[in-house]
Formats: sequence, structure tokens, C-alpha cells
Amino acid sequence: KNIAIFASGTGTNFQAIVDAVKTDKLSAVIKLLVCDRQDAYSIERAIKEKIPSFVFTAKEYASKEEYETEILQRLKELEIDYVVLAGYMRLIGPTLLKNYEGRIINIHPSLLPAFPGKDAIGQALKAKVKESGVSIHFVDEGMDTGPIIAQQSVSLSENETIESLQAKIHEIEHKLYPQVLQRLFTTSQEDNK
Ligand code: GRF
Repeated sequence: KNIAIFASGTGTNFQAIVDAVKTDKLSAVIKLLVCDRQDAYSIERAIKEKIPSFVFTAKEYASKEEYETEILQRLKELEIDYVVLAGYMRLIGPTLLKNYEGRIINIHPSLLPAFPGKDAIGQALKAKVKESGVSIHFVDEGMDTGPIIAQQSVSLSENETIESLQAKIHEIEHKLYPQVLQRLFTTSQEDNK
């Protein structure tokens, strides 16, 4: 499968997916990084890995439809099969959804439907829950609302901080995301064409 990874941040999940491909744990070709922030560290990772990137600034476009149309054009040129969101901080709009229905996947740092949206880790700490986790789901028009593909939980210790919980969650994500993608790409090959 040809994939494009969308990442707005440091890109540790982007890197985990790249590494899984390099070590043959994930059968995919990462054809493109899409990033909406010029200063994101994920861009440097892509350069180092010789993966092309499309970096854009949303404010320079009149609408979401306009920048998504540009993204879509690139996805089509590269014959992208799946869009993998890894810390992409924008809601996917109808332009991309229509063309990639059932083929856009996201990872979220909570046990959805709990704590959707921004700062899920902070939300979980504030709510003083004993357990949180990671969810991987198909993307629909809502904010972290699509059908769940996989979840893994993590227990919070009494003196848990944003940093410590973040670290635990990242550790899970970096293993779980490549595994789940591999399962998806190899088991549903025919249905997902
Ligand atoms: C991850 O925790 C992911 O669940 C969330 O954004 C974070 C991205 O982290 N959607 P990184 O940029 O991959 O390190």
C-alpha cells in the first residue's frame, strides 16, 4: 500500500511508522509527509528519510476546501491508498473524506469516546481517571468520532504528570500504530481497494 502520513508536530509516530517499514514490520511505501506547520520537526525527519513532503500554511488559502484540493491532487499523483494521521492538528474536511472514505486512519491519546479533541492527556489527568490509553480509528467528519479499530489502555499512577503519561502513551503508540496498520493493509486488501 502507498501511504501518506499527515503530521503537524514532532513526528515520533511518523518515525515509528518509517522504522517499521525499514525493518519489514510494515508492508507499505511512505510516499509523502503532509504537514501544516513550517517549523514542525516531522519535516526534518522526512528530509533525513528522503521522504518528500508537502508543507502548507492554511492561512494562505481561502478555505479548507482549497488546501485540501491541493493535498488531494498530490495524493492522486502519488497513487496514495491510505492516509495515516499522526498528530495532524486539523479536522479533515469533505474534500479528502469523499475521496478517501474508509481509508483515513487516526491515532488519539485516550480511550475514545473519552477525551476527544485537543489535550486528551491533560483532560485525562484533570478528570483524575485511573486508566486512559490509545485509540486508533477510522476518520469521519467528526472530531475523533469514527469507528474504532484498536485500543490499548494504560494505568495512571498517583503522581502521574503530563510528561510521564505522555511518555507511556507514546511507547504504546509507537508499537501499536505500525501493528494495526499492518493488520489493516494485509487483511482487508480486497475490500479496501
Ligand atoms: C500522538 O500522541 C497522537 O496520539 C496525537 O498526537 C500525538 C503526536 O505525537 N494525535 P508525535 O508528533 O507523533 O510525537
